Amino acid sequence: MAENLTVLIIGNGAREHAISQAYENSADVKRIIVASGNDFITYNREKEVIIDKNCNLKQLESILWVAKKHKPDLVDVAQDDVLALGTVDLLQENGFLVFGPNRNAARIEWDKKWSKELMIRNNIPTADFRPFNLREKENAVDYVKSVYRENPNKLLYVKATGLCSGKGALKSANLEEAIVNIEKMKYFGDAGKTFLIEDGLEGEELSYFVATDGFSMRFFKSAQDNKTAFNFDRGDQTGGMGAISPTLLTQNKSIENDVRADLIGHAIDGLRFENLTYKGILYVGGIVVDGKPFVIEYNARWGDPECQVVLPSLESDYLETVLACLEKKLLSFDIQQDNKTRVCVVGVSRGYPDPKEYSDVISKRIYGLEDAMKIGGIKIFGAGIKIEDGKFYANGGRLFSIVAEGDNIIEARQKAYSAIAYTYIEGNNLHYRTDIGWRDVERFYSKNLKI
Ligand code: GLY
Repeated sequence: MAENLTVLIIGNGAREHAISQAYENSADVKRIIVASGNDFITYNREKEVIIDKNCNLKQLESILWVAKKHKPDLVDVAQDDVLALGTVDLLQENGFLVFGPNRNAARIEWDKKWSKELMIRNNIPTADFRPFNLREKENAVDYVKSVYRENPNKLLYVKATGLCSGKGALKSANLEEAIVNIEKMKYFGDAGKTFLIEDGLEGEELSYFVATDGFSMRFFKSAQDNKTAFNFDRGDQTGGMGAISPTLLTQNKSIENDVRADLIGHAIDGLRFENLTYKGILYVGGIVVDGKPFVIEYNARWGDPECQVVLPSLESDYLETVLACLEKKLLSFDIQQDNKTRVCVVGVSRGYPDPKEYSDVISKRIYGLEDAMKIGGIKIFGAGIKIEDGKFYANGGRLFSIVAEGDNIIEARQKAYSAIAYTYIEGNNLHYRTDIGWRDVERFYSKNLKI
């Protein structure tokens, strides 16, 4: 492929900002467009990076229109709901080179019932489940009654099968909660019409990412996400409040090998066997129970905020990695990553994830981002930030990801929290968790490793 390339990234969050940074590092990329993007993505860039807000990510015609307008050499479709629309298929039909799985392969994320059935067909370790339909919800209620009659302490998840921005899996610790959660499926609209009742697995979660051409795989470093709104893993599920990479959990090579072979390898082979050649980034959300990993869910794209801590470790050229996937040359391509540990802390509007609770934070001034960026080893990726006259304003729930790198979890964490301490939203409206990476801090100290 020639030099001076234009890359169009479809998406609008801190993940897309991190992806744009990875492309910017490639000598062959000249211009990057992020649609619909956010204002912070263009801040302080070395190359030409523009956002095109005139892109409605819910409408295929709008995405196609933006692609035709900018004539990119490569389109990277980074966001789950955009993949589920069939964006990759449409852009390919219109002659664009596109990175990301097509709609049928991305089903591994947008249809959780189908995805679980794929896991069963391919002997992939995952929790037992039963599918139900909202029209016959009394069957689901009868089922949970029978489960709790047998085991009153059972942990269950009621899960919408469609996409719900990471908030569609409802934890139920007793019969009453399970019945309320079945009732709540109606609030997810089409995504909750079919739902699963899944056995809860108790263990530690981890995230793992692979670039694949549908045949070969190149693995990235592991990560661990912190999903609830408050410290001690309390509060509502969010899109992600912070992450670390790698997690010391994968120092246990047997866990890492099982993830690579059983959770990822079997899925990619299984998809191909069903004539679904998966090209793109596959993300497995796993849980380790007594030293054995199980799949919670697959996602057809980078995780957010995991992308912000995993991609900056890449020493190889990201554009070349993507092209190797698209040209089915991954077998002869290796990826290099550095040995740093990274910690990401997500700054959110007070009240997030409930839009009603944080609506009055929108348009409030954000201070301190420039000072935070002056600390060595810090990157800031923007999400809900608006820039007007050079000033930053809150424009959503998740606002920014502060990412720090260090030689170990303690150093990276210390830097991340020093940096976020500079930031503030008028009216004391900034919220962030102060315990990101706590499991690895414990692992680090308990092994008495030197800082
Ligand atoms: N980190 C959760 C997600 O991206 O879905």
